Amino acid sequence: MDKNERDRVMKNRKCISIISKPLEEISSEEKEFIKDNYSGYGSILGVEGLAQFFTPHEVSFELDNYLNKVLPINAKILEPSVGAGSLLFNLREDFQITTIDVDEMNYKLNCILHPNFENFNDSACNHKRENYYDAVIANPPFNISVDGDIDLNYKSLKYDKKTKKYKGNSDWFFLEQAINCLKVGGYGVFILSPAIKFKSGLKKIRQLLLDSCWIISHIQLPSEIFENSGTTIQTNILIFRKAPKLPKFKCNSYDAISDYEWLLGQPPIVCIDVLKFDYIHEAFEMLTDELWLTNVCPENAERSRQDEAIFFKVSDLGYKYKSRYMENVIFFETQTLGRGKEIEYEGVEYETCDWGVMDELIKKYK
Ligand SMILES: C[S@@+](CC[C@H](N)C(=O)[O-])C[C@H]1O[C@@H](n2cnc3c(N)ncnc32)[C@H](O)[C@@H]1O
Repeated sequence: MDKNERDRVMKNRKCISIISKPLEEISSEEKEFIKDNYSGYGSILGVEGLAQFFTPHEVSFELDNYLNKVLPINAKILEPSVGAGSLLFNLREDFQITTIDVDEMNYKLNCILHPNFENFNDSACNHKRENYYDAVIANPPFNISVDGDIDLNYKSLKYDKKTKKYKGNSDWFFLEQAINCLKVGGYGVFILSPAIKFKSGLKKIRQLLLDSCWIISHIQLPSEIFENSGTTIQTNILIFRKAPKLPKFKCNSYDAISDYEWLLGQPPIVCIDVLKFDYIHEAFEMLTDELWLTNVCPENAERSRQDEAIFFKVSDLGYKYKSRYMENVIFFETQTLGRGKEIEYEGVEYETCDWGVMDELIKKYK
């Protein structure tokens, strides 16, 4: 064990001794200590089972700010694999938050830090609320087996005769659950492993996302992001929005290179590669800056050859902006419904480069 790991273990032990005390005996300093220092056991002491790699505050701060901007007052939010609650620290106070974690220590910690949340100590596979939440925010465990006792009738969970449980892969399950639990118009904000882009076992969930959601953004994070939580695995942020039942259309931009079909209202997806930790804030500022979106992405973007990845080089800030086209791997790209061309549906013309169209369609077809 190196010095960093030893340090984490010592701090975790102190946190656990605080968490184990009766609630009324825990001081506000101790609460601050566990908030800042409980890092879970991801990759230390050989405890990999629950994939406890907690999100650093720099990232959760941006995700929370995004939700604070887009959600209505008193919005209902689900964090289905809450860990130490890192993804929730900067959310607005009016939100009604539900958390779940299968790990008892995490559950207790959330009861201490957030007694006003609805906290469950359970597997997320037992949580059954359909069309209920305005947002699901999650950094679910990557590629582990998850199970529950309730038949949610999800494609990701199969009945296992041996264990008598409904069992499946976490990468698939947590996304399927989010789509199910969200209201139409609700937001999914997920930290995911890169497997979501290409793994054949995740094809069905990619399809479900494209059939039922608008994809807002795909942000690739630098691999050092989770270093302090014990891993250097590559991670991505995916932001999507549950759409009403709508028809799909092919990309109609003049230099379309794909036959892919997108839900009416799909805006160009904002794809950002954040190359350095320090640039996360600027990446998120760009994501919510409509002026930047309409000016730069995608009409005026600089393009390279059509049959390769297209790079949008916007500035020297340290990002690459790109849309990807790879045979059979196509997933996140800006080749969506076109660069400003309109689409006619039921007698109405809809802009394809206007983020407001989603709200218009939600109102009309919910
Ligand atoms: C990668 S950590 C992320 C924690 C937190 N969301 C964050 O971003 O810091 C994944 C969490 O999922 C929890 N977990 C694992 N299996 C679960 C299940 N079946 N249901 C709910 N939580 C689960 C683990 O205990 C761990 O806290």
